[in-house]
Amino acid sequence: MTTGHIFIASSLDGYIARQDGDVSWLTPNGAEKEDHGYSAFYESIDGIIMGRGTWDVASRFDPWPFDKPVIVLSSHLSQADLPPGLGGAVQVWNCSPHETMQRVAAEGWNRAYIDGGKLIQSFLAASLIADLTLTRVPVLLGQGIPLFGRLPKERALMHQGTRTFASGLVQSHYQIIP
Ligand SMILES: NC(=O)c1ccc[n+]([C@@H]2O[C@H](COP(=O)([O-])OP(=O)(O)OC[C@H]3O[C@@H](n4cnc5c(N)ncnc54)[C@H](OP(=O)(O)O)[C@@H]3O)[C@@H](O)[C@H]2O)c1
Repeated sequence: MTTGHIFIASSLDGYIARQDGDVSWLTPNGAEKEDHGYSAFYESIDGIIMGRGTWDVASRFDPWPFDKPVIVLSSHLSQADLPPGLGGAVQVWNCSPHETMQRVAAEGWNRAYIDGGKLIQSFLAASLIADLTLTRVPVLLGQGIPLFGRLPKERALMHQGTRTFASGLVQSHYQIIP
């Protein structure tokens, strides 16, 4: 079975974007010049599964930053809504988290990058996440799009390590105990 992996940044109070989707606060104090391990993480995954909210932002990236398959989960979008230039690089699926992981497993994926707040919450609720790398940015947004939400049951995590950066970013890696 494919395992789900999270690599995401949040404000200290747990938001991944301002309410309007703005993420300009993610790189304070020269953080954009630091190596937070994104490239190494990206190399380790077979593809990306993102929510439609994250797609709405990512679809405006120019140039397209991913050279691995991207699955957008949505009950409203269809393949016909995608910009033609993306060809076969992006697929829109209307599937549950479990069905999605079964389908990507059938395509040979071992590790899936799960991205987007609501999507992460649903994959956590379905026990499909193996580990979580969370980079906390030293800002209190007070409101915004939350990373975490309600879960059907409590989950224990095992702390694997924490790194601090000159910019003030603090990155922790956790395994999720099955
Ligand atoms: N800080 C960071 O590192 C970081 C990383 C990623 C994203 N972001 C930001 O986060 C924001 C998007 O996050 P978000 O929480 O609003 O949305 P999201 O998780 O990206 O997308 C949620 C949407 O995906 C669709 N969906 C389909 N299957 C789903 C399922 N099983 N579980 C949940 N959603 C499912 C639904 O849309 P339909 O109505 O189409 O079905 C749902 O409304 C953007 O502003 C993005 O820039 C920040």
